[in-house]
Amino acid sequence: MSEDKFTFTVDGIEIEAEAGQSIIQACDAAGVYIPRLCYHPDLEPAGHCRVCTCKIDGRRSSACTMPAAHGMVVESDTAELNGDRRILIEMLFAEGNHFCPSCEKSGDCELQALGYRLGMVAVTLPYLWPERELDATHPDIFIDRNRCILCSRCIRASRTEDGKTVFGFEGRGIHLRLNIDAKHLDETTLAAADKGVHVCPVGCIVIKRTGYRTPYGNRQFDQAPIGSEIEARRARPKRGVESK
Ligand code: SF4
Ligand code: SF4
Ligand code: FES
Repeated sequence: MSEDKFTFTVDGIEIEAEAGQSIIQACDAAGVYIPRLCYHPDLEPAGHCRVCTCKIDGRRSSACTMPAAHGMVVESDTAELNGDRRILIEMLFAEGNHFCPSCEKSGDCELQALGYRLGMVAVTLPYLWPERELDATHPDIFIDRNRCILCSRCIRASRTEDGKTVFGFEGRGIHLRLNIDAKHLDETTLAAADKGVHVCPVGCIVIKRTGYRTPYGNRQFDQAPIGSEIEARRARPKRGVESK
């Protein structure tokens, strides 16, 4: 192992990491999935959603912002942590207006897919039914804030990848909302090719005239649970090895 490589464990699995990697980056590379929502591999981590919270040497911290270190002992896939994640997901459903059966993102939506993966059967919290706006003024894109989970991916992507400041937050706490840098979307510099348009984990930012091209049932998370694509990277024993 080279000098800048080291190992730590996640749920008893030894992970090899490189200096500078966060826990989630090292786990992704090793094929160990830690649930997440605001993290995106192409963007700086923000640590907003807390879905990736793990116990690291016994203390809770977000795996997307915590640098990996030699000898760390990380717990992630436990009943306690997954139960807390399920509550966070339920809160996001209760705080917005989500009608999955009629949503263009259904089957490709990370929030919905995490609900399934974490065993969320129904929302047990009171729904807030907030009043949120839809902006369809742009010729190619619309924003339906009813589905926004305030993950900030679009804000980070617009700034660092697109060199724009189209998206931002305004307000605080329960009044926090996604803002744009003009009165209406068609007055912004947003373009359909922008990274900020393509990183939304839910059905809030949608490109017009592309809806339902892939039918329900054939979409990414209809085929396999969220995280499967990462878990597939984990080296599996070769056929016949187990029986020896
Ligand atoms: S954004 Fe996701 S969770 Fe919300 S309605 Fe659409 S599919 Fe359902
Ligand atoms: S619009 Fe999408 S990417 Fe932006 S904050 Fe809301 S959920 Fe996140
Ligand atoms: S994915 Fe780590 S805090 Fe959101």
